[in-house]
Amino acid sequence: MIVAEHKFDTAEKRWAGIGPYYAMFPTKFADKVITQYTNEGDIVLDPFAGRATSIYSATIQNRIGIGIELNPVGWVYGKTKLHPASQNNVEKRLLEIAQMAERYREASDNLPEFFQLCFSQNVRRFLVTARAQLKWKQKAVDWTLMGLLLVYLHGKRDQSLSNQMRQTKSMAPDYAVRWWKERNLVPPEIDPVCFMLSRIQWRYAKGLPSATRSQIHLGDCNNILVKVRKHLVTSNKLPVRLVFTSPPYCGVTNYHYDQWIRLWLLGYPPAPNSSLGKNRERFQIHGEYKSLIEKTFRKVAFLTGRGSVIYVRTDSRKFTFDTTYSTLKQLFPTKRMSFVEQPVLGNTQTTLFDNTAIKTDEVDIILK
Ligand SMILES: C[S@@+](CC[C@H](N)C(=O)[O-])C[C@H]1O[C@@H](n2cnc3c(N)ncnc32)[C@H](O)[C@@H]1O
Repeated sequence: MIVAEHKFDTAEKRWAGIGPYYAMFPTKFADKVITQYTNEGDIVLDPFAGRATSIYSATIQNRIGIGIELNPVGWVYGKTKLHPASQNNVEKRLLEIAQMAERYREASDNLPEFFQLCFSQNVRRFLVTARAQLKWKQKAVDWTLMGLLLVYLHGKRDQSLSNQMRQTKSMAPDYAVRWWKERNLVPPEIDPVCFMLSRIQWRYAKGLPSATRSQIHLGDCNNILVKVRKHLVTSNKLPVRLVFTSPPYCGVTNYHYDQWIRLWLLGYPPAPNSSLGKNRERFQIHGEYKSLIEKTFRKVAFLTGRGSVIYVRTDSRKFTFDTTYSTLKQLFPTKRMSFVEQPVLGNTQTTLFDNTAIKTDEVDIILK
């Protein structure tokens, strides 16, 4: 009990927990890297930001973070913890959404069987309304409420809005339906407003994390790094002090299949595997993956200088490691390279994918 209280005794710690995401950096590790390699006011860049752990850690230590993330789930988490709306506005918006839910009765009843077994009727209508109404890309109140909904969308029955599920990983719909039916598990009858109000109140109870000048961009880092460079040149802020990132690992996950329910809430179709488009191949085909890593770090190299540190956590398996190592070696020939091996202790990018056969170590590559 004491441990739990201590763990969440400040606003910074409460907001850091947003939200469940594969392969996220442990927050203590991120805090340590930021402290070790940067000073207050420095710029920290993460082109593969995920749920923005690195950028958030930079922010609460008075650095300026610039993150880029392709997956909207990670981006919404990042926006929520970097730029949350006020508690009052989020609570008001929650009630507004609930009041509109009756209009979405038909849309909610027409959802595939998976949704009927995953969420009670009340919850389903509420979620369909939130999906239709929240302008999460544009309005702080909407990305904040959406971020908090994404956290609790699925998980253990008594801790989430769903029937029994994992919190990090969206299960395949057929598998989940079979599993619930075999166990006679029906969706829990939850009042979504009461449930979310108590979670919102807990999140805000210690206040908000300190105001931020950090940014998290939604999109492909290959496009956005060009804009970031222009901005940093114009505002005379180059070079970036620390590049702190973990790119995807080849052949492990594309971050979309395993987040398909959360992506549905953000407006994607109600089925997995339908949301990745042209980016799919970059996560699994060697040539495409190599090109992603090379192009990204080439653009990153233009933002760095002699005093910059590049800190990359990656997979120690041969193809991903070799690609990352040789790219970094070629692009930063004057920097000294060192390695820290990270044995599999808890949940890594590979173990989380639920494939124990490919459980491997990770390695940090540091260039100074
Ligand atoms: C290993 S995860 C990063 C996790 C992150 N360190 C955290 O703490 O949450 C890699 C991330 O890169 C993102 N990604 C992959 N390709 C991308 C691209 N072209 N542009 C931006 N982000 C990309 C994936 O969606 C994924 O979230």
